[in-house]
Amino acid sequence: MPAEMTGFWAPVALSGDLPPATVIPARTTAGSIALWRSQSGRVAASADRCPHRGMRLSHGFVRGEALSCIYHGWSYSQAGNCLRIPAHPGLSPPETIRVATQKVEEADGLLWVAVGDPAHQPPALAGLVPLRSLTVEADIGAIERAAGATLDARGVLETVENSQAVRLLLVELQPHRTLVHVLVDDGATPAERIMASRAAESLRRRAESLQGGIA
Ligand code: FES
Repeated sequence: MPAEMTGFWAPVALSGDLPPATVIPARTTAGSIALWRSQSGRVAASADRCPHRGMRLSHGFVRGEALSCIYHGWSYSQAGNCLRIPAHPGLSPPETIRVATQKVEEADGLLWVAVGDPAHQPPALAGLVPLRSLTVEADIGAIERAAGATLDARGVLETVENSQAVRLLLVELQPHRTLVHVLVDDGATPAERIMASRAAESLRRRAESLQGGIA
């Protein structure tokens, strides 16, 4: 298998969407994730299913360096092993009780989750910063057709919408659903940020129309 086929990095959220001691749901083509940041600021990606009775861990809570399930309070480390079972406070949980984890990298204001085993680090977005994210009910092909442009090797689509240059970082969530991060130049003015955001919305509506989804 060629190295580039062993895996890739999915930019699942903006750094600013995940303050310390919080957990949010995220998704890649590999499935649902509980994306969480510990009190000290370290980020982890755990499978969004508690090994006990299947509750979504993204509904849970973060205390210190652990993620706890909202249902019966089992808590997990960033490596995935169970740390504590409140109903059995004297028990050291066996190593076999684990939640699957995926690698995470934080760079350029984005949180990248490894799908498979990527051969390289996430792509650099030198000079660009994320402004906001939106979900488009269309696949990447429909967005490319709406933009009249194709993704570059980083997954960035560069186009002009309503006379406004737009840079979008795209990642497939599931069939006909794409997560889009709007990128702007580092140091963009408030007016430029507003125009970029509006241009992205305009492109979203056209792509969804092309896809036959909700405009
Ligand atoms: S389902 Fe998570 S602790 Fe019971």
